[in-house]
Amino acid sequence: MLLNNIQEVRDEVRKWRKDGLTIGLVPTMGALHAGHVSLIKKAKETCDKVVVSVFVNPIQFGPSEDFDKYPRTLDNDTELCDNEGVDVVFAPSAKEMYGEGQRLSNDVLTYVCPPFFYVNKLCGRTRTGHFDGVCTVVLKLFNIVQPDYAFFGQKDAQQVVIVNKMVNDLNVPVKIIQCPIVREDSGLALSSRNKYLSDEGKKDALVLSRILNNIKACYKKGITDVNALKETAYSFLNNHHELEYLELMNKYTLEEQEKADNSTIALIACRVEGVRLIDNIYLED
Ligand code: PAJ
Repeated sequence: MLLNNIQEVRDEVRKWRKDGLTIGLVPTMGALHAGHVSLIKKAKETCDKVVVSVFVNPIQFGPSEDFDKYPRTLDNDTELCDNEGVDVVFAPSAKEMYGEGQRLSNDVLTYVCPPFFYVNKLCGRTRTGHFDGVCTVVLKLFNIVQPDYAFFGQKDAQQVVIVNKMVNDLNVPVKIIQCPIVREDSGLALSSRNKYLSDEGKKDALVLSRILNNIKACYKKGITDVNALKETAYSFLNNHHELEYLELMNKYTLEEQEKADNSTIALIACRVEGVRLIDNIYLED
């Protein structure tokens, strides 16, 4: 069932609650691919009823980012959700979510601003305000759907750490379930933004997973010095790659580390053909 209206979602959810059913929410921006589908399948396994939200959230895009050209494929998305047995696809307009002004400024919208420590690094360093926009829309979706469980991908590792932090700090009654990264056979992590890449660009994009796999292999061989591990990346890069960051951190707290250990996540962001791609790997599972 496709719903565009907040009240209709609330009405539907209320009926389920009355019947004592558990509810799962999978927040997305659409252009659904097998990565999203893995979240939906996990939600179906875990919950009686599943809501997928499809909303390209204007307030999490910076002024020079790809909000306008972000792929919008609602017909395909709804069909895919139907095939997966999703109960409600919630696809609100920006007006439904935010009222008249679409790109609202701080003085009219109450924002959820995660702590500086979590946003002043990785993607937050170049995407100012991005995680405020994410947390604000995710909390709104939690308040609208009131799910028991919400499903997020490890693909956006900083996002899921920050959402967990928000949920703990604000006592939001939802359990966050993190799902593993889905990749193409080539190793490329699936992303809606892969659509922007040419065939050549997709080959160049393999550098992200190659660098991460190599770091993990070096760690397994006994190298734990973070700087030494980072340095192994440079031989993979050429002038088709614009490295934005490569960091090794604690996967729960995003604290920087000097020595890698069983808590370490390696995270990378790199531009290929101007497209900003991210990926990450746990050095131990
Ligand atoms: P979006 O980029 O559409 O991603 C929706 C969810 O799918 C996120 O939790 C993301 O981590 C997960 N995902 C994306 N690619 C994946 C992959 N290859 N494997 C596994 N999971 C993957 O993330 C957002 O939307 C937005 O920021 C949102 C949370 C919806 C708020 O607007």
